[in-house]
Amino acid sequence: MSLVDEIMELKEKTDSVILAHYYVDGAVQDVADYVGDSYFLAKKAKEVDRKNIIFCGVSFMGESAKLLNPDKHVYMVDNSADCEMAHMVDLDKIDEVRKEYPDVAVVCYVNSTAEIKAKSDVCVTSSNALKICRRLPNKDIFFIPDQNLARYIADQLPEKNFIFNDGFCHVHHGIKVADVNKAKELFPDAEILTHPECRKEICEMSDFIGSTSEIIDYATNSDKKEFIVCTEIGVFHELTKRNPDKEFHQVKISQICPNMKKVTLEKVKKVMIEQSEEVILNDELMKLSKLPLEQMLEIAK
Ligand code: 13P
Ligand code: SF4
Repeated sequence: MSLVDEIMELKEKTDSVILAHYYVDGAVQDVADYVGDSYFLAKKAKEVDRKNIIFCGVSFMGESAKLLNPDKHVYMVDNSADCEMAHMVDLDKIDEVRKEYPDVAVVCYVNSTAEIKAKSDVCVTSSNALKICRRLPNKDIFFIPDQNLARYIADQLPEKNFIFNDGFCHVHHGIKVADVNKAKELFPDAEILTHPECRKEICEMSDFIGSTSEIIDYATNSDKKEFIVCTEIGVFHELTKRNPDKEFHQVKISQICPNMKKVTLEKVKKVMIEQSEEVILNDELMKLSKLPLEQMLEIAK
């Protein structure tokens, strides 16, 4: 039996559902029941009716699935697959900002640990951050941890006062103007599609800015035939699957998130057999960190 067939059989035997982010390997995306961006996966995690959730992504995604489904077992395919940006805010800084701005809303990008979420008011993802920040009654917004997404949203909401943090994603922040210019020279007819975790200068050069799903939808609905893609290379799998007649180009070879690439088919099988790598959070942390996530789902409706 092939590895893929074994995984399909194990899903039934173990009453498991597989959720995967667009940044994991294409072969892993293909065995998943649901593939999507962070917002879609957070919503799906709440809807699935299987006993076990196998999460193909990084830690903060598995934690979010657990927080929204306390009664289910959530297993990471590789517990060491973490997102560096998810740790890039000093917890004391949140207290300091709250003291300085008593009416501040602490808006936490889902790419953050449960401990950071627990000290926040509302979570956002790249696809709902604008809507949520606009709907908040607070003028002062402390946006953590990502500086680039914060600035992208702040530029569209001049009526708000944003307080910034200095976190970043090394994959997106690592894309520089020179990389995009080089790609433009090579592919002058291509449109530039960019994730808002990229630097401001890259967003300003782009034809479209959006989450992973939004980038995929934009390219699929576009009449254009060629695109330069400024996000992690995992999205190329769905882009080419949905658009076999279109061309997608990288801006540089290091558009790779090493943590997302820790998720392999062999490990998916192993985790289903061994039921190891379970996401366990203590009750107090669960109670506090699920509130901003639930707020996100409510406000984004
Ligand atoms: P989205 O899928 O929400 O665009 O998130 C991108 C990301 O960096 C996940 O790690
Ligand atoms: Fe974190 Fe960036 Fe990897 Fe996403 S791509 S998991 S933000 S390091």
